[in-house]
Amino acid sequence: MSERTIRISDEAAGKVLEAPVISGSEGDPTIDIAKLYKELGYFTYDPGYSVTASCSSDITFIDGAQGILRYRGYPIEQLAERSNFVEVAYLLLYGELPSATEFSEFERDITYHTMVHDQLNTFIKGFRYDAHPMAIMAGITSSLAGFYHDQMDIDDPEQRNLAAKRLIAKMPTIAAAAYRHHVGWPICYPRNSLNYCERFLDLMFSVPAEPYKVNPVAARALDLLFILHADHEQNASTSTVRLVGSTGANPYACVSAGISALWGPAHGGANEAVLRMLNEIGDVSQVGKYIDKAKDRDDPFRLMGFGHRVYKNYDPRAEIIRKACHDVLADLGVTDPLLDLAMKLEKIALEDDYFVQRKLYPNVDFYSGIIYKALGIPTSMFTVMFAIGRTVGWVSQWLEQSANPGRIGRPRQVYTGKQQRDYQAIDQRG
Ligand code: SDX
Repeated sequence: MSERTIRISDEAAGKVLEAPVISGSEGDPTIDIAKLYKELGYFTYDPGYSVTASCSSDITFIDGAQGILRYRGYPIEQLAERSNFVEVAYLLLYGELPSATEFSEFERDITYHTMVHDQLNTFIKGFRYDAHPMAIMAGITSSLAGFYHDQMDIDDPEQRNLAAKRLIAKMPTIAAAAYRHHVGWPICYPRNSLNYCERFLDLMFSVPAEPYKVNPVAARALDLLFILHADHEQNASTSTVRLVGSTGANPYACVSAGISALWGPAHGGANEAVLRMLNEIGDVSQVGKYIDKAKDRDDPFRLMGFGHRVYKNYDPRAEIIRKACHDVLADLGVTDPLLDLAMKLEKIALEDDYFVQRKLYPNVDFYSGIIYKALGIPTSMFTVMFAIGRTVGWVSQWLEQSANPGRIGRPRQVYTGKQQRDYQAIDQRG
C-alpha cells in the first residue's frame, strides 16, 4: 500500500481531503474514499460498480486491456494446458499448487464428500420435470444448510474449510440429479473409483441397464472448461456471494445466491443464450441481419457471448475454448455447423466498427456451449456447468472474506423520490 494521496477539494466549502492511493501487487491504483463522507460530506455514485473496488483479494488477477487472467499468479493458459480442475481448486482455495501428497489428500476429501443426503433426492423429485436446472441447483444448494446446521460455525476455520470442500464435491452430484430428474432417469450415485470429471459424466449419462464407459476426451474437455470457469475476481455472482457472506450467512446460502446471480443472461446465463441465438440465426446468410439488430439501440437484442465489463481485448478463456472446440469435436468425431456459424459471426462482428469501437470481443460464453453440446449436455444445463466450475471461485472468495470478516456490505443511493409530504385520508384524495 503506497503513501501517495489524491487531493479531493470542495472549493465552495473550502474543504480538502487527501485521499490515500492504494496500489496492489498488480493492477490499476485505487483511491481509498472511506473518509470522503466524514471529511467532505459526499457519497460516490457508480451504478454497476464500473470503477469501484469492493475488496482486496489475493486470488485472481485480470487485466482487461491486455487480456490477462491469472489464478494466484499462474497464467490461465499454463493452468489450462498443464493442470487439472481439482488441482486448480486446491490452488484457488489455499494459494499454492499442492505437493503430490497434498493433492491426493485433497482429491480424496473431495471424492468422499460427493454423496448427498438421500432426503435431498426426494426434494429434487418434488420439482416439475421441466423445472430449469438452475432453479433446482439454487434450491438444493441452499437446502444443504438444513443438513449441516451443526457444522456451520463460520468462525471455525475447520468448519469453513469442510463446507467449501462439501460444496465443490456435491455440485456435480446435484447437477446430474437435476438433469436425470428432467429426463426421467433414476438418480444414480457417485463412483469413487472415477476422477472428478469422469464421475460427473457417469452421474449424468450412466443408465442402470448397462455399464457406462467414460470417454476420456469428454472428461478432459470438461476438466478444461471447469478450469476456465473456476474464478474471475469480483464478477456479479462472486460479488453476490461476498455480499451475502458479509452478513454472516452460512456458505450454502452464499453459494445459492451466487447460483441465482449467475443464472442471468447478462452473466453465466449467456452460454445458454448463445446456443439459442445461433440456432435462431440458423445460417450465415442471416448473420448480417442479427449484427444489425445487435447494433440497433432500439432493439433489445444483443450479441450473446460478446462484450465484457473488464475485457476490452480478447477474453483469454474464449481464445482457449475456441481452439478446444476444434480439437474436441475432431477427437469425438463430431461436426457442428453452429461452430462454423459462430466463427463467421465472430469474424463479421470483429470487422464491424460498432464492435471494434466498443471493444466488444467474444467472452468465455461464446464458444463453451459448442463443446457442451458435443458432450451431449443439453442447452438448459449449460449455466449449471458454469456453476459447477465457478463454485470453486465462490468458495475460495468466501473463505478469503470469512477469514478476515469486514463490515457488512451496505451501499448507499442517490434518492430521487418525493420529498416530505403529509398523509391524506382516502376521502380527501383527488
Ligand atoms: C460473464 O464479470 C465477469 O467477469 C463475468 C464473467 C465471469 O467469468 O464471471 O466473465 C462471465 O458474465 C461474461 C459475459 C456474458 N454475457 C454476455 O455475453 C451477454 C452479452 N454481453 C452484454 O450484455 C455486455 O457486454 C455485458 C453485460 C457482458 C457487459 O456489459 P457492460 O460492461 O455494462 O457494457 P455496456 O452494456 O455498458 O455496453 C457498452 C456498449 C453499449 O453500447 P453504447 O451504449 O455505448 O451505444 O456496448 C454495447 C452496449 O449496448 N454492447 C453490446 C453488447 N455488449 C455491449 N452491443 C451488442 N451486443 C453485445 N453483446
